[in-house]
Amino acid sequence: MAEPSSETRFLHAIEMGLGAWQWGDRMVWQYGDGYGDAEVHQAFLASLNEGIRFIDTAEIYGNGRSERLLGQFLKGTDQPVLIATKFLPFPWRFGKNSLVRALKGSLGRLGVESVDLYQIHWPSPLMSTDTMMEGLVECAKSGLTRTVGVSNFGQTQMLAAYSSLAQHNIPLASNQVHYSLLNRTVEKNGTLARCKELGVRMIAYSPIEKGLLSGKYNVNSPPPGSRSRNYANLLPKIGPLLKLMTEIGQDHGGKSNVQVALNWVICKGALPIPGAKNANQAQENAGALGWKLTDQEFARLDETSNMILE
Ligand SMILES: NC(=O)c1ccc[n+]([C@@H]2O[C@H](COP(=O)([O-])OP(=O)(O)OC[C@H]3O[C@@H](n4cnc5c(N)ncnc54)[C@H](OP(=O)(O)O)[C@@H]3O)[C@@H](O)[C@H]2O)c1
Repeated sequence: MAEPSSETRFLHAIEMGLGAWQWGDRMVWQYGDGYGDAEVHQAFLASLNEGIRFIDTAEIYGNGRSERLLGQFLKGTDQPVLIATKFLPFPWRFGKNSLVRALKGSLGRLGVESVDLYQIHWPSPLMSTDTMMEGLVECAKSGLTRTVGVSNFGQTQMLAAYSSLAQHNIPLASNQVHYSLLNRTVEKNGTLARCKELGVRMIAYSPIEKGLLSGKYNVNSPPPGSRSRNYANLLPKIGPLLKLMTEIGQDHGGKSNVQVALNWVICKGALPIPGAKNANQAQENAGALGWKLTDQEFARLDETSNMILE
């Protein structure tokens, strides 16, 4: 296991963050239908109140609206907030300078001079890993970001990014990937172990499987929008896992399924960034901190989720 470098150590000290994809996105999250600016502002404030200070956004979320909203909210607080955002390698973006230009756009929307983590949102078939890493190096060396990371990178791509950055003495801070009790690909394919070995922080997105692990959706009451299609096969199978999560939550003084789901990710050694649409969700998510699943509960959750994912 590698010790994280001094520049990236702060990320390893963060137990949980807040995802801001929901802030402005209509396509997947129906922004404007049942919740909007006022509600996500409350989610932001509730998170800070609960001690959650790491917020993940991206230039693409709501076409810049998520970054703009976060920028507005930041103006109203003097509490320290750690900001992570992302570069999307659109096919019309060429060369390392496109990263510096994109980051400057993000900084403008966020209203800050630098961010704490700048990530490549997805690997690109058109821009080489070396070019993207040279762009990240440029961003870090010009002081526009404190650290750099990747997202949705498999092991081989992550190793290439790690080595490319190492040539410039810049550590790869993180790899942000899909990871939950209902999606354990990164655990099974060795990416999680490799992250730990290299001192790269694994950031877990969709840690409550887009709301499924809360238990509020079922076959008769599926989630709205594209989620109902995407989860049509999984939804009928998750009953036994939800039941076990509820039992375990009760043994911990009434922890909810969401809190059990997030605690499991933390126990696995990753940093979950659950998305929240309002104060209640943000508050509930924060209740995943301050307690720990027992080894036996952890093993039972592993076993039951494996049976569903087989
Ligand atoms: N790098 C990437 O490619 C990538 C991909 C996906 C996400 N992300 C990041 O990861 C963050 C989290 O992932 P995610 O948004 O996909 O999924 P998630 O965190 O698993 O689920 C968030 C959704 O679950 C529901 N929810 C949240 N808290 C709840 C609670 N306490 N009780 C009941 N329902 C609750 C809400 O939707 P409803 O109320 O509508 O059910 C919310 O929008 C995103 O915001 C984004 O920052 C990154």
